[in-house]
Amino acid sequence: MLIRQKSEIPSSEITPKREYMNRRAFMAAAGAGVAAVAGGRALRGLAKAAPVDAAEQLATVKSPLSTQGLALTPLYDITHYNNFYEFGVNKDDPAKHAGSLRTRPWSIKVEGMVSKKKTFDIDDLLKLRPIEERVYRFRCVEAWSMVIPWAGYSLSEFIKQCDPLPSAKYIEFTSLDDPKQEPLPWDAGIQWPYTEGLRMDEAMHPLTLLTFGMYGEVLPNQDGAPVRVVVPWKYGFKSAKSIVKVKFVKDQPLTTWNLMAPNEYGFYSNVNPNHDHPRWSQKRERVIGAPIWKQLQPTLMFNGYADQVASLYQGMNLDKNY
Ligand code: MTE
Repeated sequence: MLIRQKSEIPSSEITPKREYMNRRAFMAAAGAGVAAVAGGRALRGLAKAAPVDAAEQLATVKSPLSTQGLALTPLYDITHYNNFYEFGVNKDDPAKHAGSLRTRPWSIKVEGMVSKKKTFDIDDLLKLRPIEERVYRFRCVEAWSMVIPWAGYSLSEFIKQCDPLPSAKYIEFTSLDDPKQEPLPWDAGIQWPYTEGLRMDEAMHPLTLLTFGMYGEVLPNQDGAPVRVVVPWKYGFKSAKSIVKVKFVKDQPLTTWNLMAPNEYGFYSNVNPNHDHPRWSQKRERVIGAPIWKQLQPTLMFNGYADQVASLYQGMNLDKNY
């Protein structure tokens, strides 16, 4: 289904969102019964889903950097099919458990090669620039994808405020690591905190989004509230969620999945249908929430953003630097 542009209709009127709200009302009614018979666990799941319902609106402006002509993934799918290993390893775990994440007060510490160390409060960051709605394709390394109307502004705007030294070549992102708020860290067997990184030119690219919301509302906890990055031409794991620290560094930073399995998850992780994951093909992807006959789609080089970003990798062997 093709969706009209954001300029024509407010995001609250976009069909997938409305469908989501109806489904949510149905599920709340059905869930009350389940909770009564199933006890604590079901009740906990229901209670933890509450922040999605109580989402705060974000005023957004239309962005010329939005990807045009794509059907948006329904909000229900975006918020119930997640990877957020701090809250468990199953796709529905984050929706069930991320309600314990406290998103205020929240700040991002800036460290490393900067003229002066600083800390930015989330509410000041929200006021720094107009929040744009940017529709991007989002491709997970697991060969599924979504189309998401994110809300944020270019990460470069934030980086300018950080005033990094010219000798800084990379930026490292660190996610919140708090077992009290993130109850299931032992499940995933990965080293906490979750860290990711980008080369400075990738981080400064206008498409790289400092993200505060989606569908015109603040980010649901399970999608990385209150602030994450989104790098649309890279596999989803490069997009660190619930960021509490950025560090500007000289050398390529160690990153969570690259540390876990360097032969499977490279530092660059640009979407590349010509470089298969050792255990599966990357030539196609399953579009989550799409009608069954449109679900299997060919994967595009750089996730469809080659015109904008291919020049960043000119002369690089992409098979080697996967
Ligand atoms: N960030 C943190 N802190 N923890 C995670 O487990 N998972 C990554 C990325 N960022 C992850 C994370 C992976 S593997 C993917 S595919 C995306 O988040 C998923 O984002 P989504 O759940 O909003 O679709």
